[in-house]
Amino acid sequence: MLTRTRWRVVEEPCEPAAARARWAAAADAGATGAVTSWGAGIGGRRHLRLYWEVDGDGAVPEGEDLAEENWTPYWRQSLSTAVVTPRVALVPAWEEGVPPVAFVLRFDPGMAFGAGDHPTTRLCLGVLDDLANRGGLPERALDVGTGTGVLALAVASMGASEVDALDIDPFGYAACRRNARLNGLEGRVRPLLRSLDLLDDTYPLVMANLVVGQLETLGPGLRERAEPGGLLLLSGFDEDAEGRVRDAVLRGAAVLDRRREEGWVALLARHPE
Ligand SMILES: C[S@@+](CC[C@H](N)C(=O)[O-])C[C@H]1O[C@@H](n2cnc3c(N)ncnc32)[C@H](O)[C@@H]1O
Repeated sequence: MLTRTRWRVVEEPCEPAAARARWAAAADAGATGAVTSWGAGIGGRRHLRLYWEVDGDGAVPEGEDLAEENWTPYWRQSLSTAVVTPRVALVPAWEEGVPPVAFVLRFDPGMAFGAGDHPTTRLCLGVLDDLANRGGLPERALDVGTGTGVLALAVASMGASEVDALDIDPFGYAACRRNARLNGLEGRVRPLLRSLDLLDDTYPLVMANLVVGQLETLGPGLRERAEPGGLLLLSGFDEDAEGRVRDAVLRGAAVLDRRREEGWVALLARHPE
């Protein structure tokens, strides 16, 4: 039986200048994650949400509880093995057989998005597979909005050695962590329950399969996290919204690959040097 998570959430008013120090102190006290309303693009009041694992080690402060429900019975009926590209297959954790392809990713979605049954996920996996096949996949990557971790797991299994997998949803974080273990990739994929503004690193590949409003809000942050000359892989929008996403995120980045499926779009672009 795969472990389900329970979270204690504490929400505090916070100004941007104070958020990093507060998160550092909470992490020392055992918190797993921190999300600012502005870094998550959820506007309104300025607040910081801190997450503790109820069943983890150590003391947990007073706050609201969230429990991950067991959605496996539901997924068992609706998910099956999917060969997404000629080399990549997504296999639910409970399925016995695996198809004979180079990259088999086993996963249990829990309550997270990213079971590979959405065109945007498939489009991104196709771009990543081609990149890897041409020897162009970087060693390090950031996946913003990782959900089940599907894109992070894919690049790690294709050879990337350090992949930061970020989500603002504790159940996305939990699913990604579970799936990294399921695939023996926990040394390469680092799940982070964090908003983008609380990261410092830059990466040669930044991936973001997010809804349009989030891509627009996080545009500057996504560009800042890409190294000069680095790659940006974006999806989560349709052809009508593509111009808005290009304006908000790409700004001067050269589009190297554009794919479409059922009206959805994925773009791979190179950030200026
Ligand atoms: C459409 S799913 C993509 C899942 C997976 N990467 C895939 O390609 O199938 C988007 C994910 O982004 C997360 N998300 C939404 N807004 C975010 C933000 N501002 N920062 C980080 N993650 C975010 C959601 O919780 C969700 O797990």
